[in-house]
Amino acid sequence: MYAPLVLSLTCLLAPLVHANVTVYGLFGQTTADPGALRSGTVSIASTTSFVTVPGPPHYTELAAYNPIFMEPPPIPSPAPANQFAIGVPTSAQLQTGLSIPQHGTFFGFSIEMSVANQLSDTTLHVQFLNLMNIIAQRAGAVHIRVGGNTQETAFLVDSFPDGKMMEKDKEDASNPTSTPVLAFTPELLYMLANVSSLMNARWYLGIPFNDTSNFRFQIAELGEAILGDNLLGFQAANEPDLYAAHGHRPPTYSQFDFFGEYALLTQAYQNDTSIPIKNNLIAPSVSGTWTPESVWDTGFVDAYTQYLGALAVERYPTDNCAVIFPNPDNPPHDPIAEQALFLTHQAGINITQQYTNSTMLAQTWGKPFLMFETNTASCGGFPGISDTFTSALWGLDYAMQMAYSNFTGALFHFGGQNVSYNPFTAAPTNQSAFHQWTVGPIFYSSIVVAEALGQTNTSQVKDLFPNNGDDLTPAYAIYENGNLARMALINYMTDPSGANDYVATIYVGGSGFNEPNGVPASVKVKYLLAPSTSEKDNITWAGQTLGGRFQADGTWKGQENIQTVQCDQTQNMCQIRVPAPGAALVFFSDAAQQAVGGPATTQTFPTTVLTKTVNTVGVDPTVLATSNGQSGKDRVAQGGTSQGGANGAPRMGGVAPGVALMACVLGGVGVFLRAFR
Ligand SMILES: *[C@@H]1O[C@H](CO)[C@@H](O)[C@H](O)[C@H]1NC(C)=O
Ligand SMILES: *[C@@H]1O[C@H](CO)[C@@H](O)[C@H](O)[C@H]1NC(C)=O
Ligand SMILES: *[C@@H]1O[C@H](CO)[C@@H](O)[C@H](O)[C@H]1NC(C)=O
Ligand SMILES: *[C@@H]1O[C@H](CO)[C@@H](O)[C@H](O)[C@H]1NC(C)=O
Ligand SMILES: *[C@@H]1O[C@H](CO)[C@@H](O)[C@H](O)[C@H]1NC(C)=O
Repeated sequence: MYAPLVLSLTCLLAPLVHANVTVYGLFGQTTADPGALRSGTVSIASTTSFVTVPGPPHYTELAAYNPIFMEPPPIPSPAPANQFAIGVPTSAQLQTGLSIPQHGTFFGFSIEMSVANQLSDTTLHVQFLNLMNIIAQRAGAVHIRVGGNTQETAFLVDSFPDGKMMEKDKEDASNPTSTPVLAFTPELLYMLANVSSLMNARWYLGIPFNDTSNFRFQIAELGEAILGDNLLGFQAANEPDLYAAHGHRPPTYSQFDFFGEYALLTQAYQNDTSIPIKNNLIAPSVSGTWTPESVWDTGFVDAYTQYLGALAVERYPTDNCAVIFPNPDNPPHDPIAEQALFLTHQAGINITQQYTNSTMLAQTWGKPFLMFETNTASCGGFPGISDTFTSALWGLDYAMQMAYSNFTGALFHFGGQNVSYNPFTAAPTNQSAFHQWTVGPIFYSSIVVAEALGQTNTSQVKDLFPNNGDDLTPAYAIYENGNLARMALINYMTDPSGANDYVATIYVGGSGFNEPNGVPASVKVKYLLAPSTSEKDNITWAGQTLGGRFQADGTWKGQENIQTVQCDQTQNMCQIRVPAPGAALVFFSDAAQQAVGGPATTQTFPTTVLTKTVNTVGVDPTVLATSNGQSGKDRVAQGGTSQGGANGAPRMGGVAPGVALMACVLGGVGVFLRAFR
């Protein structure tokens, strides 16, 4: 929503946070080992907490590495039933209210344009490639948007003397969010093309909309030429409903003014002979200040239908903007109170129910309907929510709810080290580029959703509202090619005693549906687990983790554990336990069970993962291993890249100083170090 705006020397300080930290909160000051904080022996109840590191006094919030732990919400009294039945038909034809067919690429990512250069300052980052390939291999492709507020003022230049692909000028005083004015070179687009040459990565870009008398279409002209089929579309206008509030348009700016500007845009677009494809614009991307209906009511879709490849909105459930932009009209939200609002099935519904009218209209118009930018809370999310297992369960439920509600895709936004909600954050260090990234809990949501929807483009989602619709125990059924394929079950409670684990008895076909033999002899189950919803590091998917904070290189660690649960074919049922907290993905159909292990082969990339040769850093090709758990054929090579592996950081030692900056990848930090110097 807001461009990440930061601070700080976090890049240089981050290695220190391995040491003891001092946490300041409402309840004073506590010094503790981060491990203790994680395990819950120290808990702090405050949003206004700061972390300091030993040494000279530094006063900074390392949001992406924030060690503050909040107590999970208590188990309600009475607790939800811990045993209940779910009946589902095998055939989609007997199921009601199924979604439209969904693609495995449903859950994608959104990166602010101004920080995209950090995917590659000199080379593409192997951690980024490995993480994106985890999704691409499961979903068939990965969809990534490069854009945001910074797209609006972006302009193309041929090159910069120093060879950079991007420069920011923060002097634009007209801009209240201090969004930098951005100049970029074609190298940015080549960099994306280079990613796509290594995996099935597809891109959304944005057309600047700040000057409607002189649209700058160079990104579309070059984007088409350079990215070709890997270009998904161009967002034109990002959150136009906030233009007036941000001072980019007069206070009277309305849906009708926007409609008029779109006429100018589409005429100019039509007249640009360097843009071969004219039907891939994405709009209106309103963010909740205007309802989508208020845009539809201008006749927007009818008027511009030949140009519109997809309709889109942007939305966050709440915001944490007061921390960045203190404003008496928007006081800080208390994360303790917010936490429980994310640990409930209602969280996703609260958003999607505002759009089901529009997703139905989109179907009648024959347009995809995208959630183009979202996450836990705008302005970076909340420490203790966005960076904990809370967000992994929330993200899974919310994405499945959007799929059920006939959105056709959702892009989860990320920024730099100053924010809490990143799916992944690069490590700020020049010591070693490996084992040092941080994978955010919400990245696990994207993995589970990719596997839940699969690759056939036929997956239809049903919210089952089991257990009398209890908000803490939701479940979804996924039908593929017309038959029950998978089921996703979630338990939002935290109770280490196990007393609030639940057991769902799933009846497939049979009585009620008149479909004998609905249940297979056994089902496969993969679990998404953590000790607590407040956990930040120890998160596993089918027994494997991508590593705790500062430990991720984009490969899996640990032994893959896919459980087999015997079913009772005489009673047509399977019993599935879901721990508190946790989620289970149950594979029913033969096809689903065959695909359960994920991608069959382990791919490795060549060393030529380069966009430019300036400051080239050698990359051990084995580091590019995409993990297929431990079943990949390149197991030995992978072993070397896992934590503590012998050749863990093979050739990154002694890299050129420029690379230190580069290693702040995705951090937003290198960028701003420049900007603030
Ligand atoms: C859905 O949106 C259309 C277009 O704005 C409007 O006419 C209609 O009343 C809406 N329907 C509901 C149920 O809100
Ligand atoms: C999704 O679309 C399908 C097909 O049009 C429809 O039957 C279903 O009711 C829609 N779901 C929601 C939640 O609007
Ligand atoms: C699914 O859809 C994608 C995008 O349209 C397409 O590339 C892919 O081939 C489709 N897969 C199948 C199995 O039809
Ligand atoms: C990769 O980037 C370079 C420029 O840095 C470009 O010349 C090359 O064509 C790109 N490769 C692909 C496959 O797009
Ligand atoms: C990393 O940076 C620090 C501080 O600038 C410097 O002292 C150190 O030598 C650097 N290490 C490497 C391996 O470049």
